[in-house]
Amino acid sequence: MKIDLFKVEDWMNRYETKAIHNLAETCVHSLTLRELLSYDTSTPNALEKLMDQRLTYGDITGNPVLKEELSMMYNKVSADQILTTHGAIGANQLVLLTLVEPGDHVIVAVPTYQQLYSIPEAIGATVDRLELKPEEDYQPNVEMLKVLVKPETKLIVLNNPNNPTGALIPEALLLEIIQVAKENNAWLFCDEVYRGMHPRESKMVPSVVDLYDKAVATGSLSKIFSLAGLRLGWVVGPADFIQNCFHQRDYNTISCSMVDEVLGLIAVKNRHKVWERNLGMVNANLEIIDNWVNHEPRVSYVKPKAGTTAFLKIDSNMNMEEFCIKLMEETGTMLVPGSCFEREGYVRMGYVCDETTLKKGLNEISTFLKKYPEIE
Ligand SMILES: Cc1ncc(COP(=O)(O)O)c(C=O)c1O
Repeated sequence: MKIDLFKVEDWMNRYETKAIHNLAETCVHSLTLRELLSYDTSTPNALEKLMDQRLTYGDITGNPVLKEELSMMYNKVSADQILTTHGAIGANQLVLLTLVEPGDHVIVAVPTYQQLYSIPEAIGATVDRLELKPEEDYQPNVEMLKVLVKPETKLIVLNNPNNPTGALIPEALLLEIIQVAKENNAWLFCDEVYRGMHPRESKMVPSVVDLYDKAVATGSLSKIFSLAGLRLGWVVGPADFIQNCFHQRDYNTISCSMVDEVLGLIAVKNRHKVWERNLGMVNANLEIIDNWVNHEPRVSYVKPKAGTTAFLKIDSNMNMEEFCIKLMEETGTMLVPGSCFEREGYVRMGYVCDETTLKKGLNEISTFLKKYPEIE
């Protein structure tokens, strides 16, 4: 299957290990294994117990206790509606390979994580982009959706909260989108890897799987649990759909790492403690970037409502790829150019790193902006 270059991942691969101030990362500042284990006061010898674990393939569809815990993050979901995967990237691929066939009509709200439209395009579907605009706070325009949708539309794809904009579709608008999907008997697929990370002024929005019976969602331990190193994600959806995903998954996964699942279970069981730490960082760091944006005349944005990223508009005569490369080479500060999201003039900033890195990176960007004044 021929597929477009995954621009954001390609960008991360090129620069991530060289960055001094990494403001490109989308995970909430990662936990160490020691920090993770410290959340689990009920099993003091968790590592010791793991030493005697025979390393078989484990439970093929995912550790049942883990799936039970994950199901509690939704209102109307049971464990048999969940399948564990290799990160959300594995989950997204599985959903798209299971649902989309050549010739299908798919609508994807953009900008978003490229996987969500490049895989359907590579499969041979016709993909229409529903443009999320800054002047509409990056909210899906339902009237536009109604123009794009057709009786044969197979799938509508969202990412809520959104990477890169940090926009959050509220429940009322999700229900309007669901109404459009329902009228056309279309599936709704929402990548929800950032669900739960919202600053204090926003409210947690329900998963689409709790709102619509033809909905599928994906989640992961990478972002909101700060455990990208475990490479553990999941698909949640109707039980028969999960069964179809399972048939697909037999061809590329067999099972997820049982060690990852045991460690992941500690995080999911103690999710409220992990999220308290992470929401604290989201709130504190959002205040820092908001203050910075308000004092940087050449930078503007729609303030993020959730997630871990902000999409910044930069006034510059450089194109943003050139800007980001120069910034990286001269200061070691890493951002992602908007071209990775088909948007020129913008950069994506992942702002939930540790506070020192964020502050140093922002200072470097300010100095860099002064060094390269905009051409009038
Ligand atoms: C929207 C979105 N979905 C999925 C992923 C993949 O995440 P994971 O590490 O769980 O594979 C990312 C990673 O950046 C993402 O931003």
